[in-house]
Amino acid sequence: MPETCKKYFIKTFGCQMNIADSNRFARILDELGFTRSDSPSESDLVVVNTCVVRAKAEDKAISYIGEIERIRKSGSKVSVILAGCLVPLVNENEIKRRFPVILFSINPENVDTFRDLVLEHCKPVPDCEKISDDVIQKDSGKSSFHAFVNIMRGCEQHCTYCIVPKARGNNASRKYEDIRDEIKWRIDNGAKAITLLGQSILDYGKDWQDKKPISSIKGDDLFRDLLDRISIEFPDIWIKFLTSHSKDLLFETIDLIASRDNISKFIHLPIQSGDDGILKKMNRGHNRDDYFKLVEYINNKIPDVRLSSDIIVGFPGENLDAFEQSLDLLRRVRFFKVFTFLYSTRPSTAAARMKDDLPIEEKRARLNRLIDLQNLITLERHKELVGEKLIIMVEGPALKSEEMLMGRSLSEDIVIFNSVDFVSTGDFVRVKIIEERQRTLIGEFVDRA
Ligand code: SAH
Ligand code: SF4
Ligand code: F3S
Repeated sequence: MPETCKKYFIKTFGCQMNIADSNRFARILDELGFTRSDSPSESDLVVVNTCVVRAKAEDKAISYIGEIERIRKSGSKVSVILAGCLVPLVNENEIKRRFPVILFSINPENVDTFRDLVLEHCKPVPDCEKISDDVIQKDSGKSSFHAFVNIMRGCEQHCTYCIVPKARGNNASRKYEDIRDEIKWRIDNGAKAITLLGQSILDYGKDWQDKKPISSIKGDDLFRDLLDRISIEFPDIWIKFLTSHSKDLLFETIDLIASRDNISKFIHLPIQSGDDGILKKMNRGHNRDDYFKLVEYINNKIPDVRLSSDIIVGFPGENLDAFEQSLDLLRRVRFFKVFTFLYSTRPSTAAARMKDDLPIEEKRARLNRLIDLQNLITLERHKELVGEKLIIMVEGPALKSEEMLMGRSLSEDIVIFNSVDFVSTGDFVRVKIIEERQRTLIGEFVDRA
């Protein structure tokens, strides 16, 4: 490898949005002639893509930057590009004073300027030999056959606990034509499944209202129109999407999901709490009954739906009764998966001003009760799948056993199955589910799909 080659490393914290942005940074750095390295200590450039959704995430990102600072002090020439949701919340000069290793920072609202900023701050390496042409290999969230496609940036919901709107800014939707072109490009580079991304994805296109149309997308629900068109235009591609705000999911969109074989039946529908009083204090814009009605409609229309959710435990004012409403909601809905979080106070959010006097030990105990209950439900739901045949896309060897392969269905069922010689990553196969596990299903290879 030529001496001039600059090596880079990307550390990503946080959600799929950040993964998608990191993938993009990797692609640009590859194009500029940088080469990817395996560790920060061997790199000239480390992109730290930060998350601030909870205090713990922010602390992790800060201490990671501290580690790179120490690597630099021990004689390396490494520099940091600070990216992600921490950037809009800090003063650039202050953070640079604290961590001189930071070369520059890039706001998540301006990721389009990444290339220019790199060229401005780092010497280009024009005749550097690339180590890999397989850009897509580096450019995927789960496997090289799966790609994240951002359809919008920002969030304009006003959930009182959440710092994301401050970090990610106002909604900015991409034109349909640009999204379609990116999907085409992804497919040309091997993608067989696409996840459309937006923090509050059902708000897609709402930022164009009252402005002249900038896309051929029309109708009263622009996300539905987008999903409709994409699923027709790419009939052989699996289409998934994240995240739907439960107050905005329309019955018509559910009908569309039900009617298309290539749209995922995995619907992530964060509820956050099962208690009406807490939902109100969170400003979620709906109550538990509205949610139950929505779930009932979904279950009727999509019998094989895989519902998942997010729940926050210990929100200010959550008493035992309110917490038990969350447990009750889990029992009634019977989600396949629930992501559980301890409430974390975030600066300058509305909830940060609310009285929060519940001891942390009590919050932890509640969290554990919630996790234990959901684990049982998840296992039960997995058990219901035993005997079924599912089509999955092979993602590679199973983590715990090299002899087994791992794959994922359109609806996000993760299946570990016996490896067959002629099956490789990216293939679609049919498997018969023979056993349930907590996180995965165990399957037996049937045939190619
Ligand atoms: N836009 C998505 C994702 C937001 S962040 C959505 O609305 O679902 C992912 C999850 O983090 C949220 O759903 C919420 O459950 C959790 N979260 C956000 N802020 C939090 C906070 N201050 N404390 C604890 N959990 C939080
Ligand atoms: Fe945060 Fe609510 Fe926006 Fe999700 S919808 S990112 S929880 S403000
Ligand atoms: Fe974290 Fe930003 Fe995502 S705060 S959860 S990385 S939008």
